Amino acid sequence: MPGPAALSAAAAVAALVAALLLLRPEDAGPGSGSRMAETEALPKLREDFRMQNKSVFILGASGETGRVLLKEILEQSLFSKVTLIGRRKLTFDEDAYKNVNQEVVDFEKLEDYASAFEGHDVGFCCLGTTRSKAGAEGFVRVDRDYVLKSAELAKAGGCKHFNLLSSKGADNSSNFLYLQVKGEVEARVEELKFDRYSIFRPGVLLCDRQESRPGEWLVRKFFGSLPESWASRHSVPVVTVVRAMLNNAVRPGDGTTELLDNKAIHDLGKADGSLKP
Ligand SMILES: NC(=O)c1ccc[n+]([C@@H]2O[C@H](COP(=O)([O-])OP(=O)(O)OC[C@H]3O[C@@H](n4cnc5c(N)ncnc54)[C@H](OP(=O)(O)O)[C@@H]3O)[C@@H](O)[C@H]2O)c1
Ligand SMILES: *[C@@H]1O[C@H](CO)[C@@H](O)[C@H](O)[C@H]1NC(C)=O
Ligand SMILES: *[C@@H]1O[C@H](CO)[C@@H](O)[C@H](O)[C@H]1NC(C)=O
Repeated sequence: MPGPAALSAAAAVAALVAALLLLRPEDAGPGSGSRMAETEALPKLREDFRMQNKSVFILGASGETGRVLLKEILEQSLFSKVTLIGRRKLTFDEDAYKNVNQEVVDFEKLEDYASAFEGHDVGFCCLGTTRSKAGAEGFVRVDRDYVLKSAELAKAGGCKHFNLLSSKGADNSSNFLYLQVKGEVEARVEELKFDRYSIFRPGVLLCDRQESRPGEWLVRKFFGSLPESWASRHSVPVVTVVRAMLNNAVRPGDGTTELLDNKAIHDLGKADGSLKP
């Protein structure tokens, strides 16, 4: 049996390799340029959005991205009802969280929990695991099956706008399981024909993770040591991803699937610093 140090080193190498795999030229996709002008109107868009009293659900709110998303949603007061759907009940100390609803579900029997997915106008999916945490099969189960089933139930429950946190390089024809699964789930959710569907494809997420993942720490150090312009092409802070998701949600959709690549996420996520209502 390899010792913990050897395992950490192996995890670090695996993470670096994974990061390097993502370092490919930006995928062709809708850029942010054509719609950037709209962001000048963000405060007005937010205000109009708030007036609509929409409800939202978040999958993965205990995760690194999901919890920042929840925090921003509450700070911006964008929705009149916020529901977390997850496998365990979360506890929050701050007052701001007191009206947050929680639905605890068994993802292995999700059909039994269809009611948890009913009546939300907007949904955000920040669910995910890794091969190192769950094994190849477990990874596919969560990142493909749980996500897809959730999306199906959300659609059936009346969700109009589904937001999927995917990954840079997502591609159903990739030889890498991670990118293949991300590409497949993107396409299968699209088949559900939500009124509005937004896919986010960030590069490496930069955050201060609560749990320790030595590999990711190394990757973050690595990106931190690079020139800013280069690093920002391949990575993005979690808070920028979250702001891009929300700045996108408050503006009107254009009826097509929205694909936001790492650059579009940077642009839209930094569009407006004055976020407080
Ligand atoms: N990290 C990166 O650099 C990167 C880059 C691009 C894209 N992404 C993608 O972005 C997404 C979010 O990443 P993240 O780093 O924010 O995720 P994270 O911190 O690992 O959080 C994952 C979330 O999924 C839930 N989850 C995991 N396994 C589950 C299971 N078996 N059953 C039910 N819920 C489960 C977790 O709930 P519990 O708290 O209950 O475990 C948590 O809420 C993922 O899909 C990831 O692939 C990540
Ligand atoms: C939203 O809620 C506010 C306050 O409860 C109410 O005055 C307003 O009419 C509602 N708007 C819509 C569109 O339902
Ligand atoms: C993914 O690729 C496989 C093999 O090329 C194909 O059979 C399948 O239909 C594709 N799935 C999606 C959702 O595009």
